[in-house]
Amino acid sequence: MLKKVGITQSLSRGHREELARHCEIIILEEGQSLSGLLARDELSACHGLICLLIDPITRAVTDAMPKLEFVSSVSAGVDHIDIQALTERGVPVGHTPGVLVATTADAAFGLLLAAARRLVEGDRFIREGNWRPDNRWSPDFFLGKDVSGATLGIIGLGAIGQAVARRAAGFDMRVIGWTPSGREVPGVDSVSLETLLSRSDFVSVHLALTSSTRDFLDADKIATMKPGAVLVNTARGGIVNELALAQALDCGHLYAAGLDVFESEPVSLDSPLLQHPRVVVVPHIGSATTLTRAKMLELAVRNAVAGLQGQRMPHCVNPQVYPLADEG
Ligand code: DGY
Repeated sequence: MLKKVGITQSLSRGHREELARHCEIIILEEGQSLSGLLARDELSACHGLICLLIDPITRAVTDAMPKLEFVSSVSAGVDHIDIQALTERGVPVGHTPGVLVATTADAAFGLLLAAARRLVEGDRFIREGNWRPDNRWSPDFFLGKDVSGATLGIIGLGAIGQAVARRAAGFDMRVIGWTPSGREVPGVDSVSLETLLSRSDFVSVHLALTSSTRDFLDADKIATMKPGAVLVNTARGGIVNELALAQALDCGHLYAAGLDVFESEPVSLDSPLLQHPRVVVVPHIGSATTLTRAKMLELAVRNAVAGLQGQRMPHCVNPQVYPLADEG
C-alpha cells in the first residue's frame, strides 16, 4: 500500500506527478492552520508532510501524526518547525537552502537601494499628484544616501550574506561582516559586532531565527548603530525588535529601513514601521521569482521522495537522526 503524504499547498502538475509516483497525496486544507486539523484522520494518517513556512509544525501537530516519517518544508528557514520534537522522534526534516540564495540576495540589495535612494517614496510622490511644475527639480530635491563608497555591514555570513557581499563589491562598497560562528569570508573584513554596528552605513541581516537570535537587534544594539544608517532585513522579522527600530527611525537616529520580513506576518497596518515614510516594505518576497520558487518546490519534493524511500534527504536540517553508518 502506498504511503500517504500530506501537503498544505497545491503543487504544480509536474511536482504532483513526481510525488504521486511514490505516495498517495493528501491535500490538507489550504489556508487553514494545521492545528485546526489535530483531531482529523487525514492528518494522523500521514507518513510524511510537505509544508510551507506559514505552517507552524508544533509538537502538538507532530504528536497528532503517529506515523510521521519525515517533514519537508518548502523553505530554507525552519523556525516554524519544532525541530527538537522531530529529532527526538528520529524524524528527518528537509528544507530548501541554496536554490534561493541569488534571488534573496538580489531582493536584499533591491531594498537597500530603494531605501537609500527613496525610490518608493518618489513613486508615491508622483502617483499622489505631488510632482508639479513648481517643484519639478531643484538641487536639494529628494536627496538620498550614497551607496557607492559606503560601508555595508553584513550580519550572518552564510550563503545569502556572502551573495549580498558580492553584489556590494560591484557597487564599490566596503564590506565588513560578523557571524556568530566567527567564519572568515573572502572579500569581507571580519569585525566584532560592536564595530560593525558603529561603522556601517548600511546593515543587512542574514541570520536564521533561533532562540538565540530572537530579538537580536534590540533597542540597545540599535542605539549603537551609526547615526544615519539604513537597516535591511530579508531574514526573519523576529530578529529585529520592530518597536526599537521604529523609534530609532522616528527620532532620526536611523535614516531608513528596507524590510521583507516582520515579527508577525502579515504585518499589521497599525505597525509604527508603516507610518514612517522612509521604510520600504515588501511582503516576504525575498525568494519570490518563478524560477526560484519552482526550484524550491522541486527540492522539497526530492527531500520528500528520499524520506519516503528511507534514504537521506538531499538537504536535511537534523541529519543526526540518520544512523551513523549512513553518514556520507
Ligand atoms: C525561506 O525559504 O526561508 C525564505 O524566507 C522564503 O523567502
